[in-house]
Amino acid sequence: MRKLVVSFFIIYIVTSLSFNVGCQETFNVFDYGAVGDGQNNDSEAFLKAWNALCVAKGTPTLVVPKEKTFLLQPTKFSGPCKSNDSIHVEILGKIVAPNTPQEWKECEKESWLLFSEVNNLIINGNETGVINGNGSPWWREVKKSKCYRPKALRFFKCNDLRLSGLTHVDSPKGHVSIVNCTNVIVSDLHIIAPDDSKNTDGIDIIMSRHVNIHDCIIGTGDDCIAINNGSVHVNVTNIVCGPGHGISVGSIGEEGAYETVAEVHVRNCTFNGTMNGARIKTWPGGSGYARNISFEKIKLIGAKNPIIIDQNYCNGKHHCGDSTWSSSAVEVSNVTYYDIQGTMADDQAIIFDCSKNADDTLACLNIVMKQINITSIDPETEISVLCKNVNGTIDATSPNVHCLQARTSTIVADSPDASSPDPNAYSF
Ligand SMILES: *[C@@H]1O[C@H](CO)[C@@H](O)[C@H](O)[C@H]1NC(C)=O
Ligand SMILES: *[C@@H]1O[C@H](CO)[C@@H](O)[C@H](O)[C@H]1NC(C)=O
Ligand SMILES: *[C@@H]1O[C@H](CO)[C@@H](O)[C@H](O)[C@H]1NC(C)=O
Ligand SMILES: *[C@@H]1O[C@H](CO)[C@@H](O)[C@H](O)[C@H]1NC(C)=O
Ligand SMILES: *[C@@H]1O[C@H](CO)[C@@H](O)[C@H](O)[C@H]1NC(C)=O
Ligand SMILES: *[C@@H]1O[C@H](CO)[C@@H](O)[C@H](O)[C@H]1NC(C)=O
Ligand SMILES: *[C@@H]1O[C@H](CO)[C@@H](O)[C@H](O)[C@H]1NC(C)=O
Ligand SMILES: *[C@@H]1O[C@H](CO)[C@@H](O)[C@H](O)[C@H]1NC(C)=O
Ligand SMILES: *[C@@H]1O[C@H](CO)[C@@H](O)[C@H](O)[C@H]1NC(C)=O
Ligand SMILES: *[C@@H]1O[C@H](CO)[C@@H](O)[C@H](O)[C@H]1NC(C)=O
Ligand SMILES: *[C@@H]1O[C@H](CO)[C@@H](O)[C@H](O)[C@H]1NC(C)=O
Ligand SMILES: *[C@@H]1O[C@H](CO)[C@@H](O)[C@H](O)[C@H]1NC(C)=O
Repeated sequence: MRKLVVSFFIIYIVTSLSFNVGCQETFNVFDYGAVGDGQNNDSEAFLKAWNALCVAKGTPTLVVPKEKTFLLQPTKFSGPCKSNDSIHVEILGKIVAPNTPQEWKECEKESWLLFSEVNNLIINGNETGVINGNGSPWWREVKKSKCYRPKALRFFKCNDLRLSGLTHVDSPKGHVSIVNCTNVIVSDLHIIAPDDSKNTDGIDIIMSRHVNIHDCIIGTGDDCIAINNGSVHVNVTNIVCGPGHGISVGSIGEEGAYETVAEVHVRNCTFNGTMNGARIKTWPGGSGYARNISFEKIKLIGAKNPIIIDQNYCNGKHHCGDSTWSSSAVEVSNVTYYDIQGTMADDQAIIFDCSKNADDTLACLNIVMKQINITSIDPETEISVLCKNVNGTIDATSPNVHCLQARTSTIVADSPDASSPDPNAYSF
């Protein structure tokens, strides 16, 4: 009897193992009723396919077929899913939002396509997939829609997330938003919106940890990438940004909030015709910190404000002048700018507009600048630098930043801890 039970048990284990391991089911949205003509509401079909995938074991794949256009109303893809392996979504065709805000029948809070609490999610566009938010009517002030202006693709609490190979076009607001996720890789995205489209950030990172964004081309009407509160260990490499407002840490500290960002490393990026480049923005009166941040190997092509720390940021403006908030500041410290070359438009190459804390100490500390050469696209323009309430060091940097302490290359060479910088290392 015991033997029988044991052997049944073994058979059960073996069959369930081989079933799970071999199981790579695909869930094609056409099999769940999608029409793919760009007119029909395909949300229900997508949700049916998702719900089937979400209870599948093994490594299930949701397929959005090539050369078809799927109209989706706001849709929430919820987890957690049953598979203990990875969940794949292949977006090979085009997903489009309703044409006008009035046609948005449902409102998912702040998003059009939301993935919530799905772990091990791999979304791949394989270079043909497109997500078009049809955002242009939303960029003009919309008062009639009952929905909040949505972000196009949003991830909430998705750990071990990979997103690649998609083209994102014309979101009503931010294009890709990553909120409270750990272990994220975003790569090979192409994000496009006009330079005058309002608040159309490329990628927003919020409350997320261990995020790696690489090899993307981003041109929008707002930040190409913005790294916000609660985010730590974020690497951004090989990004071409422009048009847009640059790669930003913040804004943080709005309305007196305590907010933090740390360990952000931006490397080998190009700012082409952007309004800002390497940017850190904090609200007056906030608290917390932006720490251990580096911008390295940056190429500038006619960028305005290529290097900027703005501690008087307020909602796209500057020095809004509410004195009740001015008694504290988000600390900005350990920021390295290394190997930044190229041309700028406008006249201010470097802006360190920092504030003082209530006890009169500086709010921007240990800013390190090395090997920087910024020239104007217009040889007639005199380049200027704004430098307030900041300390740190400067080495081989043009234009000169008078309020940082010069640290000449000979001193650097003599110093045992700061020999010629290792191009593969981040330094502070
Ligand atoms: C689209 O389909 C979804 C899912 O079935 C449904 O909730 C929504 O009401 C539909 N929207 C319109 C405009 O038909
Ligand atoms: C998933 O679960 C199966 C059995 O339930 C197990 O054999 C397999 O190793 C698990 N896979 C992972 C990635 O944990
Ligand atoms: C993805 O693209 C590659 C190369 O173009 C192709 O070989 C592969 O079949 C595509 N994958 C899918 C699922 O279409
Ligand atoms: C973020 O997610 C973690 C679990 O992944 C959770 O414990 C935490 O409360 C979440 N934080 C917020 C602000 O939602
Ligand atoms: C960021 O880059 C550094 C240096 O190459 C590396 O040690 C670290 O693991 C990377 N972090 C992420 C989240 O990719
Ligand atoms: C900032 O992020 C932290 C950590 O994720 C979170 O606990 C906190 O609620 C956030 N603060 C605000 C003002 O959102
Ligand atoms: C730097 O980024 C560009 C894309 O802007 C890429 O073509 C190049 O290979 C990257 N260089 C390195 C060393 O990764
Ligand atoms: C910079 O942007 C301009 C205008 O969009 C474009 O023509 C040019 O090719 C871009 N340069 C690089 C190096 O990407
Ligand atoms: C900043 O970097 C230093 C040195 O690597 C480290 O000791 C410190 O914990 C970091 N701070 C934060 C907030 O990550
Ligand atoms: C700044 O970096 C230095 C050296 O890497 C480290 O000792 C210090 O703790 C860091 N400061 C902060 C505020 O993280
Ligand atoms: C800075 O760049 C300009 C324009 O490319 C070049 O003429 C100049 O020699 C460079 N200066 C240094 C110190 O490298
Ligand atoms: C900047 O000021 C802080 C706090 O007063 C101090 O600890 C630090 O050594 C200063 N750094 C430089 C480079 O002077």
